[in-house]
Amino acid sequence: MLEDRAHDLRERHGISWRFTGVATRRLGWIADPAGLDPAACGERAPSRAKGREANPKLANVRAWLSAAQADVLFEATALNVETGQPAVDHIRAALEHGAHAITANKGPIVHAYRELRDLAATKGKRFLFESTVMDGVPILSLFHELPVIHLQGFHGILNSTTNVILSDMGNGLSFDESLKKAQALGIAETDATHDIDGWDAAVKTAALITVLMDVPVRLEEIHCEGIRELTTNAVRNGRRDGWPFKLVCRAQRVGSGVKASVAPEKVSSSSPMGKISGTSSYIYFETDIFPGLAITEENPGLYATAYGMLADFVRAVS
Ligand SMILES: NC(=O)c1ccc[n+]([C@@H]2O[C@H](COP(=O)([O-])OP(=O)(O)OC[C@H]3O[C@@H](n4cnc5c(N)ncnc54)[C@H](OP(=O)(O)O)[C@@H]3O)[C@@H](O)[C@H]2O)c1
Repeated sequence: MLEDRAHDLRERHGISWRFTGVATRRLGWIADPAGLDPAACGERAPSRAKGREANPKLANVRAWLSAAQADVLFEATALNVETGQPAVDHIRAALEHGAHAITANKGPIVHAYRELRDLAATKGKRFLFESTVMDGVPILSLFHELPVIHLQGFHGILNSTTNVILSDMGNGLSFDESLKKAQALGIAETDATHDIDGWDAAVKTAALITVLMDVPVRLEEIHCEGIRELTTNAVRNGRRDGWPFKLVCRAQRVGSGVKASVAPEKVSSSSPMGKISGTSSYIYFETDIFPGLAITEENPGLYATAYGMLADFVRAVS
């Protein structure tokens, strides 16, 4: 995406970039401040990575950030629902190093949002995470454009994997066949049980409550039910009768707190949520100014997530 939009970045935003490091568990820590060829570092191009082996002296994220002379970190490790690690440590290290931190990982928002937000402010750097909810759709940025508004609640469909599974089960595929299809699309979490048991949707719900409603909700406080117990028959019959099952996220302000849930619900096929199928997502915000404000994201591919991180990059360095 960085290469694809390099011309626009340079001409429209005056941004040029150099890719100076990459790290995964399998690749190890690779850094070269003179610049790396992104294609030569991908896990699917091991032969081209020759000469770019991990430096054994770079044993941790801090040494790697220094060696790469990083100005910006893109953090995209797998979701850890329980602790948000190692992403929390990566982002903290980046901000302390003096780099902007951009993540698609929801874990750090739920487990360390206030700490990382305050650290970024202290360091004069940006901590941005637009891709964590609805891929690159500017949900979080939208609220920057709505100053002093009060969000009372929201509901929607925020997990694509279960939406693909429920859509395909409604068309007669088995649960396992539908899950395989979602995994082939690359949208399932690294551990797909996070999707199926509702935890990915719960983490997104918690992230929106924490950031947009300013209530630091804990995951255990969200009533969470997944789609594991739904039979193919029930899903198919629901669709046939005009009341398809959807995994619905809900949050409502109650006093100084928020009541929130993630659970399968039958919704009317003529309602906005009833029309959300496949990888599409939907959210409906209730605010004190706009009683209802809805956003639909139709059939995004993986580029939508990468775009959200790219847009955060432009916001951070412009
Ligand atoms: N895919 C989507 O549609 C989407 C949409 C929005 C948000 N996200 C979020 O984006 C993040 C990445 O998703 P993905 O689909 O790209 O997952 P993925 O394909 O499983 O990739 C995860 C990457 O993280 C690396 N990794 C995992 N644990 C690590 C660790 N402890 N230290 C260093 N590297 C580690 C893995 O490399 P190794 O296996 O070599 O360790 C792999 O390169 C997740 O947090 C996900 O929730 C994804």
